[in-house]
Parts: sequence; C-alpha cells; structure tokens
Amino acid sequence: MKLPRRQFLHLAAGAAVLPAVSRVAWAQAYPGRPMSMIVPYAAGGPTDTIARIMAERMRISLGQIVLVENVTGAAGTIGVGRVARSAPDGYTIGIGHWGTHVVNGAIYELPYHVLNDFEPVSLIASNPQLIVARKGLPANNLQELIAWLKVNAATATQGTAGHGSASHVSGVYLQAITGARFQFVPYRGAGPAMQDLVAGQIDFMIDQAANSLPQLRAGTIKAYAVTDKTRLPAAPEIPTVDEAGLPGLHISLWHAIWMPKTTPNDIIAKLNSAIVDSLADESVRRRLADLGQDLPGREQQNPQVLATYHKQEIDKWWPILKAANIKGE
Ligand code: MLT
Repeated sequence: MKLPRRQFLHLAAGAAVLPAVSRVAWAQAYPGRPMSMIVPYAAGGPTDTIARIMAERMRISLGQIVLVENVTGAAGTIGVGRVARSAPDGYTIGIGHWGTHVVNGAIYELPYHVLNDFEPVSLIASNPQLIVARKGLPANNLQELIAWLKVNAATATQGTAGHGSASHVSGVYLQAITGARFQFVPYRGAGPAMQDLVAGQIDFMIDQAANSLPQLRAGTIKAYAVTDKTRLPAAPEIPTVDEAGLPGLHISLWHAIWMPKTTPNDIIAKLNSAIVDSLADESVRRRLADLGQDLPGREQQNPQVLATYHKQEIDKWWPILKAANIKGE
C-alpha cells in the first residue's frame, strides 16, 4: 500500500523509533534473569577466588545472581572461547587476565582474537607472582632453590596453570636467566597445582599471590621471593626477586572483565557501574588486598582504560613471547 508521503515519513519515523524504544526498554529491564561469569580455570584458584568475590557483590548492584561457571582447559583458552562465542545479550560475562588475554594470543592458534573479539568492561586487580615450594624442599632461599634445581634437573618439577599459562611463561623465563632445568607439570589451573604442591607431589610453583598467600599463612608451603620491584603489602616478609639475587624477573597478572563483541554500550555501562560499586565496597577491598591484590584507581575503572592498557600489553609482550617460541598445547 502506497501511503501519502507525509503519512509515510511519519510512520517511518515512528517505526525507526520502535527498535530504539524497545532496545532502551530492554536495556532498562537488563538484567532480567541470572547471569553467568565464565572462569576459564579450575575452582579454588586465584581467578575463581577473585571472580567469586566480585560476583557476590555485583549481584547487589545488578539485582540478579551472577553465577560463576568454571570452563577449564588449554591455559584458559576454552573458557575464553566460550565467552567469545556467546550471545552479546549481557548474560555471559568473561573474567580473564594477562595470561588469557595477552600471552595466549601470542602462543596459541585461537579461534578468536584476544583484543578484537571482546568488549572491555573494566580492570579488576593485579598481583605479582610468588616463587613458592613444597614444605620439605631442602632450600632456604632463592639462591639455594636455584642451586637445588640445577642438581636435580632430571627430576625437579614446576606445577603450572597450563601449557603457555603465565606460570609456565615465568618458568621458561627462570630457566633462561638461571640456566636451571626442570619439568613443567600443567594443571587446569593454579588451584589444583597448589593442592599437589601442598601434598609434596610437585617441587615448586611461580604462582599468583592470591593463590599462594592462604597456604603460606597456613604454613603448608614456603616462599622465596615476589616477582616485583617492591614487597607485597600483604606479605612484607617475602623478599623481592631483586633482593633475593634474581633481578628483573618482574611478572604481574592483571585481571579484568570483558563481554562478547557487540554487547550494547548501555549494558556495558550497567556492568561497569556494578564493578565500580564492588571495588568501592570496603569488605571487597579488604578481601582482595588480603589476597595481595592491587586495585585500579577509580579513574582507571572504565572500558577505555582497559582497552588502551590491553593493547599496550599486547604490543609489549607479543614480540617477547613470539621470540621465546613458547607454543601452546
Ligand atoms: C587460575 O585461576 O588458575 C590462574 O589464573 C591461572 C594462572 O595463573 O594463569
């Protein structure tokens, strides 16, 4: 039916408004049901612990449960792939870190791009790694550990969070700068690796502070150094690698939250404000600080800062990682 021009334009304008109206109404109603936060590593590990602290508090701001779902394997690439393939409807939230969204992009042939296939939401926290060992390992400081590794090259083992994970990359780096040799034992996350370290099944780990600190405080493992220039406020008794005679092994993992590509801005904005609320919450801050986490300032808790920092990290680390020729599984 051919309508008079004025009536057509009026209807067209109306029609154009309809999707915008329904989208705004839709975004206002978001979230209308529980959401999933995909943790690409095993339960009980550092990313799982941080995700659960955030999910618990984000629920209050969002008015909907945020369910933590562990989708593990291949140094986190399986879980991150799940988020990349998810509908951009705001109901699948991805948590990741330097390992999943920088390292893996350099060493794995991935069915997604670690930067371009995600919408940044916010940085969450960062923590250095700790060089820790089983309780009974006969070394009392980092130099003695390196000497012990050189003598026991044939049997010594480092537990990692997967082939190509941050802890594996740090191990390759440790071998390169010390000449020590040891085997890498990959797990589906730092959590299960820690269980075997406590049980004395593996010799040492280069592990996120969030994962090691509770065991250190329980006295079930021992620590030699923190992979940073400054000591960890949550464990000031542990020397830095520089103080312990291994200058330069500085590796920190920063955690962040992303959504699937093309998730609408108004949904990103809602999730971002729930994260900002959570990072401003005193009990969340205390729990994260207690796990050795350094939180971004308020002015850094936005998608733009994450997008810029993420790109910078890729530009810095990809040439180094590709030159090191570390290959994923
Ligand atoms: C984990 O949660 O298991 C860790 O984030 C893995 C890692 O340290 O790469």
